[in-house]
Amino acid sequence: MDDIREQFLAELNKAASAKEIDEVRVRYLGRKGVITLLAKNTDFSKLTPEQKRDFGRRLNELKALAESEIGRALEAAKAREAAAPAAVLANLDRTLPGTGHSLGCIHPIALVQMELEDIFQGMGFMVLTGPEVEKEYYNFDALNIPPDHPARDMQDTYWLTNGMLLRTHTSAIQVRAMERFGAPLRAIFPGRCFRYEAIDASHENTFYQLEGLMVDEGISVANLIAVMKALLSEIFHREVTVRLRPGFFPFVEPGFELDAQCLLCGGKGCSTCKGSGWIELIPCGLVHPRVLEFGRIDTSKYSGFAFGLGLTRLAMMKFGIPDIRLMNSGDIRFYEQFPAAV
Ligand code: DAH
Repeated sequence: MDDIREQFLAELNKAASAKEIDEVRVRYLGRKGVITLLAKNTDFSKLTPEQKRDFGRRLNELKALAESEIGRALEAAKAREAAAPAAVLANLDRTLPGTGHSLGCIHPIALVQMELEDIFQGMGFMVLTGPEVEKEYYNFDALNIPPDHPARDMQDTYWLTNGMLLRTHTSAIQVRAMERFGAPLRAIFPGRCFRYEAIDASHENTFYQLEGLMVDEGISVANLIAVMKALLSEIFHREVTVRLRPGFFPFVEPGFELDAQCLLCGGKGCSTCKGSGWIELIPCGLVHPRVLEFGRIDTSKYSGFAFGLGLTRLAMMKFGIPDIRLMNSGDIRFYEQFPAAV
């Protein structure tokens, strides 16, 4: 028994981790452990009553000692393990560069949106928002796109089961704003739009637009051009030459595509403008009288212009972002690259 005790203490001494200590416990106190078998394998019939008593007493002592030693060793091992980070710190090479943690940043689309809001607020425009889940009425009917009109197919729509839809353009806010504020009215509506599109480098089903609307007495194409030119020179920090081509949108008459002379080649023709010298930038037009009527605006007195800026596209142009999928990637390493003031 003395030998077993010495051996047990030596083994326990060597066991460093909680796991190794438990292995010692199993070896000595487990069902087939050395100490357990000691009692089982002893032929008590050959012992005198005195010897039996003596044996039993010493065996119990040995067991109690083994149990308490294991308990003590386990506790010490756990304490050592809990203190391990301190050991790690002590061995740390403090001259190694640390891991940077990002505090977050402003999304490139939000940067452009904020800049545009500033520009338009400086020209007396309100900044308004509307719902992303929209009524068919505001997204289509009130914009002079009746149910059976082929123009509806221009925008593939996500329909909800309750008959509502995810707005396909921020133009949906036009009539809401007219109903609420009447004329005269100057407002922009930035916001997220949705279309049922296959996603690739230049198509997203979720993107941002910024719609503009100005209604007042005697508004003409001249006002539209003036505001567009002011806007572009502020965004690009220089005078931008523009031209209007006819374009069809049911909610404007006449409707235009506003092109800007290519900012990279100055109109000579390059890969960005595909050799044409012009970049198609902003669809716009004079608000269709029927849309003004839907907005309960007196068309004998007021007229207006509207435009629909692709915020996502503008941010891509401004920052030279090659793939639209980066915009919704949620990857902060991408977002962090864009400086707040450009
Ligand atoms: N809502 C149109 C679209 O998403 C863009 C647009 C075109 C808006 C002409 C306008 C406009 O305000 O006058 O494709």
